[in-house]
Amino acid sequence: MPLVAGVDSSTQSCKIVVRDAETGALVRSGSAKHPDGTSVDPQHWWTAFTEAAAAAGGLSDVAALSVGGQQHGMVALDAQGNVVRDALLWNDTRSAQAAEDLIAELGEGDRAVGAQRWADAVGSVLVASLTITKLRWLRDAEPANAAKVAAVALPHDWLSWRIAGYGPAGDPTAPLGPQLDKLFTDKSDASGTGYYDAEADGGAGAYRLDLLRLAFGRDDLVLPRVVGSTEAGATAHPSVAGTGDTLVGPGAGDNAGAAIGLGMRPGDIAISIGTSGVVSAVAPARTADGSGAINGFADCTGNALMLAVTLNAAQVLDAARAILDADFAQLADLALAAPAGADGLVLVPYLQGERTPNRPNASGTLHGIRLKNQTRAHIARAYIEGMLCGLADGLDALRALDVPVERVMLIGGAAQSPAVQRIAPQIFGLPISIPEPGEYVADGAARQAAWVLASAVAGAPTAAPSWSTAMSTTLAADPVPLVREQYAAVRDLV
Ligand code: XUL
Repeated sequence: MPLVAGVDSSTQSCKIVVRDAETGALVRSGSAKHPDGTSVDPQHWWTAFTEAAAAAGGLSDVAALSVGGQQHGMVALDAQGNVVRDALLWNDTRSAQAAEDLIAELGEGDRAVGAQRWADAVGSVLVASLTITKLRWLRDAEPANAAKVAAVALPHDWLSWRIAGYGPAGDPTAPLGPQLDKLFTDKSDASGTGYYDAEADGGAGAYRLDLLRLAFGRDDLVLPRVVGSTEAGATAHPSVAGTGDTLVGPGAGDNAGAAIGLGMRPGDIAISIGTSGVVSAVAPARTADGSGAINGFADCTGNALMLAVTLNAAQVLDAARAILDADFAQLADLALAAPAGADGLVLVPYLQGERTPNRPNASGTLHGIRLKNQTRAHIARAYIEGMLCGLADGLDALRALDVPVERVMLIGGAAQSPAVQRIAPQIFGLPISIPEPGEYVADGAARQAAWVLASAVAGAPTAAPSWSTAMSTTLAADPVPLVREQYAAVRDLV
């Protein structure tokens, strides 16, 4: 049985699954931590990848692998293949003003016009997360570094390149050296840069060098080649994986990786509560949302991936645990001991600024403090409800674009909290399906690798392998509209 590997190089760690290419059965897995912070030397991702691969029993026997990764991070390389500075990640907000400047520039001074023009051009109104805003920030804040940039890649592109044996000149772990033209990416991740239009040329997709020039002042950069869904971008270097003919698939942005890992179809909504909060839907084509609430990215199967992303998700629960000195289970018990709506105590959870709505400099606020709601249980409930209300606004934004909502799945670490599971259907007003816990991004990458392998064997693109999708439980509850009403009454006061 051929084996395939899927890698999830996420914000917090690197996870690797090795699966049977035909059945999808899990054979081995491993993981290793990434450092904290929103600005990180990519070398840490390489070290974590090699540690995770060792923990997974090595990759010498895999026939194909793919890398899913955190979206948007700016990995700027010089001509020798060195990073010119630490990568700026999706959750780094220093380029918020650059995003506003670029919107105004494209709109010739009119923000609303500029926002719609960006949405029409690349599917998303710019916010600090998108790579193009980080390039503008680099141009203005660090001109000496900007002058050195010869190529720009995303985290998953860079890691795939390193797995293929390329890297900084003179680095013994990069035997093939700094061949920048060997960088490759996929549509899903390219669509989050702000300088790639996934629907250009009748759906073929194309870089928008004019927008890159607008942001960075030049376009003489090597940009990763965008390879098709079933195409290999390289073979893995035998010092890393396989024996020389192991295929490296196109890879994916992590949200597109989760979509293929979950087997999402139009009508399915995935709500992920991890380092970011993500409400996502697969749709046949993107809708250009000039309000900026919804990003119109690509998935990795030829569809659009519509997303609302919040910066305040699992960490809101971590913050509640810290102030209440409670563990995961105690926080859930506390929250379930308070009534729905926490007797009027409402958290607006912008603890690290916010992306949706776009308030990079906001802070969180606790409203409606009264003697009767000053209990640990009420505070626990208010934190969980506030975090879920932010995501429910994202689901409403998708509905406002006529995205069909048939099945809502709740995934990510915090989705395992019994309180989140019980409170979510009250707030979303819908039954919620909870797939069994899994590494959906790594699984999606493995599934893509199996698809690339099957296509290579067949000599033509095949259908995606039909691995059985995860079992799930469905939880229903009577909707409690009061919770969202009291949230909506204070959300815009911050
Ligand atoms: C998506 C986004 C986040 C990161 C997290 O636009 O910024 O979900 O991909 O890894």
